[in-house]
Order: sequence, then C-alpha cells, then structure tokens
Amino acid sequence: MNEEAHEEELEQSSGSARVATSDDIEVGTYLEIAQKETLTGDRENVPLRTETIVILDFGSQYSRLIARRIREANVYCEIIPWNAPPDILHEQDVKGIVLSGGPNSVYEDGAPLAPAWVFDAKVPVLGICYGMQLLAHQLGGKVEPGLHREYGHAVIHKDGQNIDLLEGLSGDIPVWMSHGDRIEDLPPGFRSMAYSDNSPVAVMGSSEQKMYGIQFHPEVAHTPQGAEILHNFTYRICGASGTWTPANFVTDAIHRIREQVGDGRVICALSGGVDSTVAAALIHRAIGDRLTCIFVDNGLLRRGEAERVQTVFARDLGVNLIFKDETERFLAALKGVTDPEVKRKRIGEEFIKVFEETANTLGHVDYLAQGTLYPDVIESTSADTTAAHKIKTHHNVGGLPERMNLKLVEPLRYMFKDEVRRAGVQLGISEQAVNRQPFPGPGLAIRIMGEVTHQKLEILRAADWIVIDEVKAAGLYEKLWQSFAVLTNTQTVGVMGDRRTYQHVVALRAVQSQDAMTADWARLPYDTLARISNRIVNEVPEINRVVLDITSKPPGTIEWE
Ligand code: XMP
Repeated sequence: MNEEAHEEELEQSSGSARVATSDDIEVGTYLEIAQKETLTGDRENVPLRTETIVILDFGSQYSRLIARRIREANVYCEIIPWNAPPDILHEQDVKGIVLSGGPNSVYEDGAPLAPAWVFDAKVPVLGICYGMQLLAHQLGGKVEPGLHREYGHAVIHKDGQNIDLLEGLSGDIPVWMSHGDRIEDLPPGFRSMAYSDNSPVAVMGSSEQKMYGIQFHPEVAHTPQGAEILHNFTYRICGASGTWTPANFVTDAIHRIREQVGDGRVICALSGGVDSTVAAALIHRAIGDRLTCIFVDNGLLRRGEAERVQTVFARDLGVNLIFKDETERFLAALKGVTDPEVKRKRIGEEFIKVFEETANTLGHVDYLAQGTLYPDVIESTSADTTAAHKIKTHHNVGGLPERMNLKLVEPLRYMFKDEVRRAGVQLGISEQAVNRQPFPGPGLAIRIMGEVTHQKLEILRAADWIVIDEVKAAGLYEKLWQSFAVLTNTQTVGVMGDRRTYQHVVALRAVQSQDAMTADWARLPYDTLARISNRIVNEVPEINRVVLDITSKPPGTIEWE
C-alpha cells in the first residue's frame, strides 16, 4: 500500500473523526458475550490445540489487522514470519493459512516465497495482495507488472456463480485496492471469481483445492464487506467453529500458565493498569497463593489510585498483595531533577531497587510475571526488523529477571488489548477497572514540568481528579485514549473577586488513538471544556488559568515530557 493510502488508513483508525471505532464496538460486544459465558473450567487440564488460522507475514503493515479481524470473528489467529518452520501445524489445530501482503514483487530476485509446507499442509489458503501473486507465481500461473498501479477505492464485480468466498455478498463490492502487479495467467485449476475496471482478476480461486487469492485488503475499514469475506474463508471454507471466546481464551491462558509454572512461585509487579491487573488475575486463577503481587506507591499516582489497587486485589480478588508506600524515597530521588529523561531514569532505578528488596524477603521465587501483549511479540518476531526511533524511554523491570535468576511468565502473550479487557471481565474484574485509560509508569512526574514536589503533586492531583470526573460525567472517558491535566511551570496573573492572583497554568490534554503510536487531540464539547475550566479554577486555589493542548501526535507526543 502506498504512503497516501496508508496515511488515510491511519487517519481512519486514529483520526479526529473517531466517533465509534471497531474498538468501541468490540468492547461492547465483548461485554455482552462475556456476561453470557461462565468459566466452566472443564477444559483446564486438557492439553489444548486451539483451532487456528495462521498468517504468514510477508512484511505487510496490515497483518496485525487481519489477525484482529479474524479473532473478532471468534477464531484464534497467529502471525508467524514467512520463513517460519511448520511447527505451528503440530502446536495448534490449524484450519487455514493466510499469505499476507508485502512490499515485494514476486518476480524480483530474492523475493520471499511461501514455504513448501504451506501447500503440503492440506488446509485452505487465502493469499492477499502479494500473497495472491505468490499463489499465482508458485502454482504455475504468471504475474507481470501492471500497466497502471491501482491504489484506493475500487468496485469489483462477481465473475460467475457459486463463489464460496464471496457467498452472501452483493454483485458489486466496494474494496480498497493496493497493488502494482497483475495476474496474467491463472494457475491450473483456478478461475477468476471477480474483476474490476483495472484488474481482470481481482479475486481468483479453486474451490476444489481450497486456494484463493484476493487483490484487495479485506481487513481495512474501506472494504466494508471485508469481514464477510474473512468470515466466509474461516467458517465456510476452513470449517472453523468459532472457539476463540473470552471464556476459552481465559481457560487457554490458565492452562498455559499451569503448564509453564508447574508448582513454582511467581511474583508480579502491579502498576494499577489493565495489563498487569489481568495478568495477575489470570495467574492467581491458575496457581492461587503461589502468586505474590507487589504494588509500589511511588507517590506519583493519581488521587485514590493506591487505595483502589488494594481494594481490587486484596479484597475483590483475594490475591496475596504486598503494598509499599515509598513516596518519600521517590521524591528524594527526584529532588532538583528537571530533565524528563533523568526523571524516568531515577524513577525506573528506584522502582527496581524497591521491587528487588521486597522480592528478596519472600524466600525462593521462580518466575516474574510480565504483561507482554501480542503486538509486542509480533513486533519482535516480525519480518520487518527496522526498529522505530526511540523518542522516550519507557521503564520496565529491565535487568531484574537475570539478576534475580527469574524466568518470565507472560500470560497475555497471545492477546490483543481488547482481548485482555474481555478476559478481565470474564475473570470478574469490574468494567471500570478494565476500561481504564493508560497511565504512564513515571506517573505524574512527567506531567509536572520542572522539579517534582509534594505541593505540585497535590495541585496536579486535584486538577486531574476534576478532569476525569467531568470527562466521565460527559460519557467520554472510554471514547478517549487518555485525558489528563499537565502542570506547566508558568504562572500568570488573574483576578478573583477584587483580588489579583499570580498562580499556576494547567494544560488540558485529551487524545484519541488506537495504539498511542499516532494520536489526535480530542474535540471535547465546549460545555465539557467550560465545566472543567470553571471547576479547576474555582476548586484548586493554586491554579488560575486553564489552557487546551490542540497538538496531534506526530508532531507532538501524548505526554508533555
Ligand atoms: P508519548 O508521550 O510517547 O506516549 O506519546 C505514548 C504512550 O506511552 C505512555 N508513556 C509512558 N508509559 N512509561 C510508561 O509506562 C513512560 O515513561 C511513558 N511515557 C509515555 C503515554 O502515557 C502514552 O499512553
């Protein structure tokens, strides 16, 4: 896909027009599904081979989106690099294989090809864009450079009758095209199943061999019937039955944890965020009291946060929890520090020290839990190895596993964020807790410009509380990626009653995003903005001015530091 098309797609997924996205809908549907299902536990001790669609990734930025679409249809889907060995065929019950798009042309020297095991596996195959050209090229057809490159909206028309892949779709199907090459000769046994003005073969296939190729992207929002095409492939052609439900992915995760940990002991650092909460709840379900959670109050949290975490874990979930209030220690480490990266470094170092000291009091421990999500896993194994330029250092428990001789247990390794949320609800964690906006590890320290002090923290906590309160009251909390206040290190003149004031300026930041890689400032209603501003200035005496941040990312970042 060219850059323009890509940008348009990004805009679609994270842009300002984000009224309701698939993410919002997913969470809604999720909750409904989750409420209907109960965790029966009857599969908990049975070795699982989950029915799976495998995506062979040839370097497309859309592989992840295809996986999400398939999982949204309740079929488990895994992405592996194009040159991976066929191990997955033994590990899972593979129902079908998708060959992704990619930047190459099949006739170039060194172009990546589908490995032979794909064709020997005797399961249906769907090639998308480059994947389609691979099918043609490797199965005896011919691919040539097209006269016109075709990017963007197109309409395809069904070519003939009884096309299982397009069953139930109208005759004219709007799609999102992105290709330069075209199929000149079909492979033996294949027929054209749809055409467009520019592509004599926009869909090809052989229902006998159960191999199909499509020239367009079914996974993007610009192909409105794309989900039906993927549904036809997974259910009608591959014969999947739809086992990837919240109840099953919780069961699956519990099973994997038990298998890995055996009768070992696990420690888990809680951050208060949804990932570590769900990871801990899953591990607790799997091994009970052999899990100990550690929550470090670094003094940089939002108002009420430390109490909330204690309530959720110790009271609601009955998890072994060690709570450490280390406010003074962290503030001492931050004394005089104004540089954002130094703040991060000091907080990270201090956290590791506290965590290690606490863990050392527990006797022998085998595992450290980590909330790694599926996108992190895909990124690290992706065919595309270009590392993104590091803008900010995000601290984690770096170096600790090696020093303490701990192995990692990562129960969310196969889940997307929305699945983590659904799993949380399934485990009995409140919707409020699973739908929380992300909060950075260094907390309010990177929302206070300049030195962090007790007094500034108190001022920011009061303003932050009002922002969240009003955003929730307006029904916007879950529609926003993040919403918060920033304490600038500027003071301005104001007038209250007859008195001149000289007080702090607070900035309001609210953004919409899908994954924090890009973000747009949220168009909050004027009424909500007015209420936030009035309340902050009236209720927090140290603040006399509220400004609104209207910068998107890029070029800005979400946090100010
Ligand atoms: P930026 O500011 O880079 O933020 O656009 C992207 C996302 O990451 C969060 N963030 C952090 N999270 N440690 C964290 O755990 C950090 O140092 C950190 N800095 C930013 C930010 O809240 C947003 O969701």
